[in-house]
Amino acid sequence: MMSDPQARLERLTSMLRRRGVILPAFEIHGGVAGLFDFGPIGGRLRRRLNNAWLEHWAAQGDIVEIDSPTITPESVLIASGHVGEFNDHMSECNACGGVFRSDHLVEGFHSNPDVLAPKDLDQLISNNNVNCLTCGAMDWKDAQPMNLMFSTRIGTMKGGRTAYMRPETAQGMFMQFPALYRHFRNRLPFGAVQTGKGYRNEISPRQGMIRLREFNMAELEYFIDPEVESSHDFSKWVSSRFNFVPDPEFGEPLEMSPGEASTQNIIRHPTVAWFMARTWDFLVSVGIDPAKIRFRQHEGTEMAHYASDCWDAEIHGSYGWIECVGIAHRGCYDLAAHESATGDNNLRAWRPYDEPKIVDKTVLSGKGAVIGPSFRDQASAVNEALELLIDMPSKFPFELSLGNGDKVTIESEMVEEKRIQSTEHGEWFLPHVVEPAFGIDRILWHILDHAYLESEKGGEAYTVLRLSPSIAPIDVVILPLMEKDELAEMAHDIHRRICSTKNLASYYDGSGSIGRRYARADEVGVPWAVTIDHESLQNGSVTIRRRDDGKQVRIQSDDLVDTLTIGPSANLF
Ligand code: GLY
Repeated sequence: MMSDPQARLERLTSMLRRRGVILPAFEIHGGVAGLFDFGPIGGRLRRRLNNAWLEHWAAQGDIVEIDSPTITPESVLIASGHVGEFNDHMSECNACGGVFRSDHLVEGFHSNPDVLAPKDLDQLISNNNVNCLTCGAMDWKDAQPMNLMFSTRIGTMKGGRTAYMRPETAQGMFMQFPALYRHFRNRLPFGAVQTGKGYRNEISPRQGMIRLREFNMAELEYFIDPEVESSHDFSKWVSSRFNFVPDPEFGEPLEMSPGEASTQNIIRHPTVAWFMARTWDFLVSVGIDPAKIRFRQHEGTEMAHYASDCWDAEIHGSYGWIECVGIAHRGCYDLAAHESATGDNNLRAWRPYDEPKIVDKTVLSGKGAVIGPSFRDQASAVNEALELLIDMPSKFPFELSLGNGDKVTIESEMVEEKRIQSTEHGEWFLPHVVEPAFGIDRILWHILDHAYLESEKGGEAYTVLRLSPSIAPIDVVILPLMEKDELAEMAHDIHRRICSTKNLASYYDGSGSIGRRYARADEVGVPWAVTIDHESLQNGSVTIRRRDDGKQVRIQSDDLVDTLTIGPSANLF
């Protein structure tokens, strides 16, 4: 019974639902594919995973957190390429109108359908006589791109403007580059992280938590100077062996340390290698089995429109190998795109020269007789901003950003071109970006999948969720041996004390045999169980039981909070 993977998956999914970890959303209204709730156990589990992720990156010292709106104006996503390029291909059945992702229809006939162009998808569908999954017909329209963004409107009626629910959190961080640059005192490298919802209107969501329409993202944008050689210390992983699956054009799968993979140019950029290593650390720290992690490089045609290199951290579980993190080199794609769409010149960083350079150049100079009357008390700020213009505008009128953040419109008759010789002390350039982007729901699913252990006890099925104590949603279950007055009172008192301690969560369970109550706590991964018995009333001691081996130790109830804060394994077991 235990070894059938499909049956195990069904038992796990059913437990997650029954115990309030992950449940279908809006179920009493029929539910919606690709939308899930995190319930009373899952909500805190997700929060703890999120916090662990934020703390992991904050510890690097040069990374800060920001938070942006999820509703994004269309112009931002036109500039970023998402309006034009963020598509999946769909095939529609002529007989019943059923719509399916074209790459899913050919999954058994190609090793990586993500890389295929529409005509190749049509060809594979036709050559392999793929039937409609709904009606069985074999009559398909040509594969069509479908944009994955949910559109909405900001404002109503005529004054409204088109917007989209963000498909990634990344754009918010590019928008805030000037604030980040100021925060880090104008010095690269630095990073920003953001966690929150992302939205993709998947054609056919499936595989539970793997393909969602609204999902939890956690992204890091790390801004670097492309002309400064990045140096990272890989000594921590010198004896680690990671599984790498390079693009088949470049090589065969292999095992080596991330430092070696960087030195041997298997990973082309050292900062990408660095974030792969730090990603591996994070995944293992929250309970992913290291033997079930591999890094797969995207093939050229598979890469997102903004990326020049990308490695996925894939995790193996009940659905096979699943992409859970993408570590992409985005170059200056996004900052350049937003600069060119808006004319805003604050998306650059300053690179000082070793020695000043004398250069001849053409600049725009404000005509005093026009600038003064047109801009009055802003006139000198306009002149200053004109002097600082990096590139000549390609057309008039154009928008000029002033030092105080205001914008003014410059007409051709307000300025004249001048040739000047100037001494330059440095140059403004577009930083490059390395982006580790995490799918929190997919990681959380794999944590549960790897932690779920089935066995038998007394002839009955027994399951334990071996969650890492760092993310377990409940730290400790409080069990009065019986719900008699004084025992229950002492248990409630301990429960309240633990719940009122920062970062600790307790669950009071007073009903059923003690064995059944241990089993209920083990099933949802509570690492510690505290039992209050008659001896507790006499001398204040309680037993604390460890989930993973059932071992029990007696301690004073007054010491419980301190013990749980340190982690009982550290000083008791
Ligand atoms: N920012 C990465 C992604 O959209 O998947």
